[in-house]
Amino acid sequence: MYIAHTIADLRAHLATARRPAFVPTMGNLHEGHIALVRQARPLGDATVASIFVNRLQFLPHEDFDTYPRTWDSDCEKLRAAGCDVLFAPDEQALYPEPQTCKVHPDPALADILEGHFRPGFFIGVCTVVMKLFQCVQPRVAVFGKKDYQQLMAIRHMVRQFALPIEIVGGETFRADDGLALSSRNGYLSEAESAEAVQLSMALQAMATALRSGERDLAAIEARAMQSLRARGWQPDYLVLRRRADLLTPSPGEPIVALGAARLGSTRLIDNLEIDT
Ligand code: PAJ
Repeated sequence: MYIAHTIADLRAHLATARRPAFVPTMGNLHEGHIALVRQARPLGDATVASIFVNRLQFLPHEDFDTYPRTWDSDCEKLRAAGCDVLFAPDEQALYPEPQTCKVHPDPALADILEGHFRPGFFIGVCTVVMKLFQCVQPRVAVFGKKDYQQLMAIRHMVRQFALPIEIVGGETFRADDGLALSSRNGYLSEAESAEAVQLSMALQAMATALRSGERDLAAIEARAMQSLRARGWQPDYLVLRRRADLLTPSPGEPIVALGAARLGSTRLIDNLEIDT
């Protein structure tokens, strides 16, 4: 696996790759990330991953400084997964001057849910992904459904700017108990780790209610919030939205349940597409 730390080095190395398949990450790689790399491999003539903890998408009080950085094991996992090129710029290499020119995604999508609780988050994400796309120039890029709203924001950006990049969604990789893998799971204490699956169970309960014919979405959402609160969580949102734009669904429209909640000091997110 070739490791490029600068844009110039990456471009020189990729000069002969006509159809790279790209998986952007912030490192601290787990099986969920690696599954995306495996999914990307047959889609291009070179498989490129990036590791860059993007300051632009963190609020001042968030965990940018403490975000887990596990360089050696990340490289080992990428090598074992058959990744060809790792792009790992430092901040100076990707943002040599303050990144004042930014991508502002559609507020209708970017200011709700995650964007409401993490203002500016999707500006940071879309800006770095746009920049990484310019560096790698992939034909296809793979993003996890674990970050459902992020995947939608990227798809929308690519469509609106007519970027010649196919965006592929990868299924959420879960531990045996159903907990969605996340770099932030590492922040959890042993007791919290055992409790963490309750977020996905709350989404499952919402799905069960919907499938059993209950139609009062607000009541289902309120019950889900209450069930997590009763277990000591601080939920930001547990909602049923239509998959097309994450707004309130009309009867019969495909639905996704989305949730974000804090367990102790760790904020977890998850989602579930519900077929009724
Ligand atoms: P990061 O959280 O490292 O995630 C990188 C990619 O892995 C994202 O597409 C994310 O959705 C996916 N992913 C994370 N956990 C997953 C799981 N359990 N199953 C499947 N896919 C999973 O998301 C980011 O980084 C950043 O916002 C980034 C897009 C790199 C921009 O900085």
